[in-house]
Amino acid sequence: MKVTVVGAGAVGASCAEYIAMKNFSSEVVLVDIKEGFAEGKAMDLMQTASLNGFDTKITGTTGDYSKTAGSKVAVITSGIPRKPGMTREELIGINAGIVKDVTENLVKHSPDVIIIVVSNPMDTMAYLVHKTSGLPKERIIGMGGALDSARFKYRLAEALDCPISDVDGMVIAAHSDTGMLPLLSKATRNGVSVSEFLDEEKQNTLAEATKVGGATLTKLLGTSAWYAPGAAVSMLVQSIVCDQKKMVPCSVMLDGEYGESDICLGVPCIIGKNGVEKIVNISLTDAEKEKFATAAKAVRDVNGDLKF
Ligand SMILES: NC(=O)c1ccc[n+]([C@@H]2O[C@H](COP(=O)([O-])OP(=O)(O)OC[C@H]3O[C@@H](n4cnc5c(N)ncnc54)[C@H](O)[C@@H]3O)[C@@H](O)[C@H]2O)c1
Repeated sequence: MKVTVVGAGAVGASCAEYIAMKNFSSEVVLVDIKEGFAEGKAMDLMQTASLNGFDTKITGTTGDYSKTAGSKVAVITSGIPRKPGMTREELIGINAGIVKDVTENLVKHSPDVIIIVVSNPMDTMAYLVHKTSGLPKERIIGMGGALDSARFKYRLAEALDCPISDVDGMVIAAHSDTGMLPLLSKATRNGVSVSEFLDEEKQNTLAEATKVGGATLTKLLGTSAWYAPGAAVSMLVQSIVCDQKKMVPCSVMLDGEYGESDICLGVPCIIGKNGVEKIVNISLTDAEKEKFATAAKAVRDVNGDLKF
């Protein structure tokens, strides 16, 4: 099965590498606008195949979308990342034009494609793809909650001083520093609520660290992170290609679910061969409902800056 990754930069290349390493897809096509860049990344990655033991064929192209024809899944990572001190929302001006243009090219050559949107501000970019691609809503998935939940689990394990495989948790709502909603009420260690191990202050501290997880890394690295984002995307691609039906929080178009409509926000979804196979309705506390609504309002304000 063919998977296209647009943007051969930090996140795109890392995503292609993880997909190949997991060996579930026959072909990955990397696309970039920078002359020779995707070709170079693809060649370098292919030279790891005999070392890392994968059979996935990785190719690269400078903007020739005919090479992406017949893709089952396409990942959009093209665009600029944030620099220290920037919010994801500040990227909208440049990234909206790129995402719209890339989407048109992808759909032209792969009308049945499932698109995973990664470029920031992700919830708004996913909304843009809905408004401009003509694709059914189950075939547009924004990736944010998968990464934010992984960061939440990292912080949970750190606070509990336990292995990450002991903990479980989800982050929903917006993929932004203020709009993320780590669901402490549902977080567990081996099925036991974390509230049995951590007082409220410790829970709030780790939730806040989760929310600024991206900004913390951007400050350390000078640009935004790529390993965990790449791994999170590859997990979603695998759930589609292998029809795993994993439950993952994804930014999807809401039509009344969680009290919101005409907006893309992170909610738990079943991800399988058809894309978003189901939006899962879970109970939220009153405080969580309020935070979800506040996040929706902020995303709606950013969406208002879009020009179609
Ligand atoms: N949703 C998430 O959880 C998440 C996580 C990390 C990064 N991001 C976002 O992903 C995007 C990429 O981040 P990065 O660190 O890989 O950046 P990067 O600069 O390393 O890579 C971006 C690549 O996109 C390419 N590009 C630009 N315009 C293009 C076009 N029109 N067609 C094809 N390629 C084009 C660039 O040449 C570059 O190689 C950023 O917007 C970043 O904010 C999102």
